Formats: sequence, structure tokens, C-alpha cells
Amino acid sequence: MKTLLKTPLIRLIFSIAMIAATSVTAQAQSTSTDDSVFQSLGAKAGIDKIVEDFIPIILADQRIKRFFEQTDKKRLAAQLSDQFCELTGGPCQYKGKDMHEVHEGMNISNAHFNALAEDLQIAMEKNNISSSISNKLVAKLAPMQRPIVSK
Ligand code: HEM
Repeated sequence: MKTLLKTPLIRLIFSIAMIAATSVTAQAQSTSTDDSVFQSLGAKAGIDKIVEDFIPIILADQRIKRFFEQTDKKRLAAQLSDQFCELTGGPCQYKGKDMHEVHEGMNISNAHFNALAEDLQIAMEKNNISSSISNKLVAKLAPMQRPIVSK
């Protein structure tokens, strides 16, 4: 190994490999250990409760209720709960449909998207989640605006 490392090219390749290995490890650690938002939401049981409150708030919201008339609410709740759990660093895996695919053709506007986000904030408030934590969940949903909004 020592004699091999004397060759400049081998030394360079070795250094690059070491840097890559270190950054992969750092990345794996940052994604697998930061479950602080998940814990602050009350872990999976807390998220289930928030989603359970979220659905009737959506269904009472004149701005967006019509979208959900034909929806299987039980399935929606289970999918949302897994999705929020995974997004906030919890030990779940969202196995539902792709966000663009599921909302395609619904003609969802930014105003509809914001209304739904507002309803989620209300559900979290109802469950005594601090605004700094609820803002963090909403921030994690922000990148979905582009694939969901089509109007
Ligand atoms: C960040 C925002 C949103 C997230 C994270 C989200 C997430 C989801 C998820 C996980 C599902 C279930 C997918 C499945 O069944 O596999 C779903 C379905 C659905 N979403 Fe959204 N959604 C968002 C915004 C919206 C908005 C703004 C509307 C309309 C105002 C909407 C209307 C619907 C409807 C109607 C369904 C049910 C479709 C069906 O019956 O198959 N979503 N959404």
C-alpha cells in the first residue's frame, strides 16, 4: 500500500475516494438521525391524530372541499400520515402515488394549495404544535407545490 501511494495518480484517486466516502457517511447520518420534527409532532401517533383532525377541516373548507367528494378518506388519511412521517424523519415509508400523477388534471391552483396548507396549520394548532414546528412541516411540503399545482 505504501509503495502504491507513492504514485501521484494513485494518491489522487485514493484522496478522492476518501472524500467521497466521508461525504456519503455525513449525508447518511444527517438524514437518518434528524427526526426532531417527527418527534415534536408526537411521533407516528401524533401525526395520525393531526391527520385525523386535518381531513374534516378540509371537508368543511368551501375553497377546496369539492375536490374530495369522491375520495376514499381512510386511504387519504393513511397515505398523508405515512408521507408526513417520512418527510419529517420518522421511520415510515410513503407507498402512495407520485404527487404529480395523483393531482394531474385536477386543475389545482396556488390558492387551493395554500388553502390546504392553511388547513394543515389549523389541524396542528388544534394539537398544540408550536408554530415553529408546524412551519417546518409546511416548509417540507413547499417543493410539492410545483408538481401539484396545474392552474
Ligand atoms: C402539499 C400539498 C399536498 C400534499 C402533500 C398532498 C398529498 C396527497 C396524498 C399523499 C394523496 C394520496 C395519494 C394516494 O392515494 O396514493 C393525495 C390525494 C389527493 N389530493 Fe392531495 N396533496 C396536496 C395538495 C392537494 C390539494 C391542494 C388538493 C386540492 C385542493 C388535493 C387534492 C387531492 C385529492 C382530491 C386526492 C384524492 C385523489 C383520489 O381520490 O384518488 N391535494 N394528496
